[in-house]
Amino acid sequence: MKNKIFEFLDLGNQPLANSYIKKKDLNKKERMYRLVVRYNNLNKLVSIKKTFSSKDMFNNEYPYRSSTSQTMSLHLKKLAQNIKKKMPTKILEIGSNDGCFIKNFDKKKTIGVEPCTNVEKITKKQKYNTYPEFWSPTLARKILKKHNKVNLIFSSNTISHIKNLDEVFEGINIILDEKGIFIIEDPSLLECLKKNTYDQFYNEHIYVFSYLSLQNALTKHNLEIFKIEELKIHGGSNRYYIKKITNKIKLHKSVKHHKYKERKFGLENLKTYIKFAKRIEYSKKKLLSIFIRCKKNNKKIIGYGATAKSVTILNYCNINNKMISYFVDTTPDKQNKYTPGTKILIKKDSNLINDKVDYAFLGAWNFKKEIFNKEKEYIKKGGKFIVHTPYPRIICK
Ligand code: TMP
Repeated sequence: MKNKIFEFLDLGNQPLANSYIKKKDLNKKERMYRLVVRYNNLNKLVSIKKTFSSKDMFNNEYPYRSSTSQTMSLHLKKLAQNIKKKMPTKILEIGSNDGCFIKNFDKKKTIGVEPCTNVEKITKKQKYNTYPEFWSPTLARKILKKHNKVNLIFSSNTISHIKNLDEVFEGINIILDEKGIFIIEDPSLLECLKKNTYDQFYNEHIYVFSYLSLQNALTKHNLEIFKIEELKIHGGSNRYYIKKITNKIKLHKSVKHHKYKERKFGLENLKTYIKFAKRIEYSKKKLLSIFIRCKKNNKKIIGYGATAKSVTILNYCNINNKMISYFVDTTPDKQNKYTPGTKILIKKDSNLINDKVDYAFLGAWNFKKEIFNKEKEYIKKGGKFIVHTPYPRIICK
C-alpha cells in the first residue's frame, strides 16, 4: 500500500498552546499557525501537520506542573507503589516535570530527564538526579557513562510530544537493560475519537497514539508492546508496557483485546477520521450556540482550568473574552496571565458563589471529578458547567 497522508481535520489558526500572555505583552502580535490533523494509512499514525522545534515549546518558561492536580499525583503514586513491589534497581523518567513520579522513589534509584529548566530546578533542588536536557541517543550514552543500564523507563505524556520517534526509541535501546521494561502513558486515540476530544490536538501533541501506530513505530527498533492498561486519566489514556523483542515475556491478552477494539472501531480506515471531523464541525457550532444563548440571557461565564487543550477549543470555536469573564487555574505560572489567542485573564482562584458565576466552562474536563468535588457548594447553589465532551452541553453532575 502506498504511504498516503490524509489531512482530515482543520482546527483553524491557533497560537502555541502553552504561551500564556503577560499583561505587558497583550498588544504584541502572537505567533499563530494552522492546526491541521492527518492520518497516515501506512503506519496508522495520527499527527499534526505543522510542528515547532522542541526548544520553542519546552523552555525555561514552561508553565505546566504535573503535581498541581491531586488526581495526577495519586495516579502516579499508585503506579510507583506497584513498581516498587517489583524492586527495580534503577528507574529513568523521560519528562520528569516537577518530580510528581520520581518523588515516590529513593533518590539513589532514579534519574530524571526534563528539558524545561524552570521545572527541572524543582527536582534538582530536592537533590534528585535530573538532567535538564532533551531525550536523545546522545543523552542516553551520556547517562550510561555515569550509571549502569536501567531496568525501568517511564514516560507519561511526553513521547507524543517528540517528533522524531526513531531517536526516542534508539535512545531507549541504548540505556534499557535486556530484561528491562519501558512504560509509556499517553492519550488514547480510540478514546479521543469516541469522546470527540479534538482538544487533544495542539502544537505540543504531535501525535495521538493508537496501539496500532505505536507498535508500528516500535517494530523498527525491535521493541514490542506486551501489555496495555486502559486508564481514565486525561480523559482516556493507554499505559503501554514495552520490552525488547529478545526478552521472552509472554504477550498479555490485553494486547490482542485492545488491538481488536481499535480495528473494530475503524482506526485503520480513513472513513472513521472523516466522520470524526464532521462530528467536530457540529460540536463547534453547538458549543458556540450554548455560549451565545447564555450571554443573550446575561449569564456570567468563567473558565475552569486554563488547559493547553482548551486553547484549541476556544480558538477553533471563536469563544473569546467577551464570552468568558476570566479563567481560574491552580498553576502559579499561568496565573495573572492571559490565555493564548483569546486573551482571557487567568486568576488564581475565585469564589464562584460570591462572584455570581452562572456557568463555568470546564477547560480541565479531564479532572472533572476532582473539580466537582471542590465546587460542591457552587453546584448545590445552582452553579453549572459547560462541557464539550462527548458533545457540548450544560451539566451539574
Ligand atoms: P492538563 O489538562 O493539561 O493536565 O491541565 C490541567 C489544568 O487544570 C492545570 O493548569 C491545572 C488546572 N486545574 C485547576 O485549575 N483546578 C483543579 O482543581 C485541577 C484539578 C486542575
